[in-house]
Amino acid sequence: MPFFSITKEMAIGTAVLGVAFATGVLAGKKYPFLAFGIPRSSKTLLGKGGPLWQYILDHSLREHPVLKKLRLLTLDHPWSRMMVSCDQAQLMANLAKLIKAKKAIEIGVFTGYNTLNMALVLPDDGKVIACDINEDYVSIGKPLWKEAGVEHKIDLRIKPAIQTLDELLADGEAGTYDFAFIDADKQSYNEYYEKCLRLVRKGGIIAIDNVLWHGKVLKPSKNDMETQSLHHLNEKIFRDVRVNISMLPMGDGVTLAFKL
Ligand SMILES: C[S@@+](CC[C@H](N)C(=O)[O-])C[C@H]1O[C@@H](n2cnc3c(N)ncnc32)[C@H](O)[C@@H]1O
Repeated sequence: MPFFSITKEMAIGTAVLGVAFATGVLAGKKYPFLAFGIPRSSKTLLGKGGPLWQYILDHSLREHPVLKKLRLLTLDHPWSRMMVSCDQAQLMANLAKLIKAKKAIEIGVFTGYNTLNMALVLPDDGKVIACDINEDYVSIGKPLWKEAGVEHKIDLRIKPAIQTLDELLADGEAGTYDFAFIDADKQSYNEYYEKCLRLVRKGGIIAIDNVLWHGKVLKPSKNDMETQSLHHLNEKIFRDVRVNISMLPMGDGVTLAFKL
């Protein structure tokens, strides 16, 4: 009996494990998130700007020509990174169509990409309540709402969104909205969420943007009130029995809350 002996089965098993390990190391070097499940940054394969993200757009983005014009126009703006991700906007439009949405709320308009996106899929007598405090941003996209022929569906309210939501509630509009998109100042997200939950009907959808906040939610620092606010809302919605949810790694992370 040699000092070190192994059976044939053990030898094959060890070889298979070795190959699997080497493959894992190589794949991990090329595609780190495959090996370690780390968050995708803009430099990795699926991240915004990466080759697979581009492939996804090339094979799924069906953008209305005026919507595309508005996106390209917005890209010239110094704050263009505030614009919603186009693949996410398309998903929201598809969901709005699926639930036959007629009334929507946009909290945070910026140049109006998603406002136009929603207005394009609502019926002719549909309405988007578009909330923003900055008229300069909105004025960039407004002419394109007209060009797309949907300006009459957009009810622009230039004032703090909380005030607009309170006005809608005071007007007896609770439970009459089909879709809401929360995408403005992060510290007010909890209030936006609670008010939208009252305004949206059962079966309606609330989409909450930036829920991953560029990965900062993984380690919310005490003094970073925006990250704290997003993280607390994520924790709250996770346990919220008033909604079904999905949190998607799209754009900067979006939670879809389906009102029960
Ligand atoms: C991320 S951008 C919105 C992007 C937009 N949803 C889109 O489709 O591209 C955030 C917007 O929220 C607006 N905003 C910030 N604080 C606000 C508030 N208190 N009430 C309403 N809008 C606000 C900003 O002026 C900015 O235009």
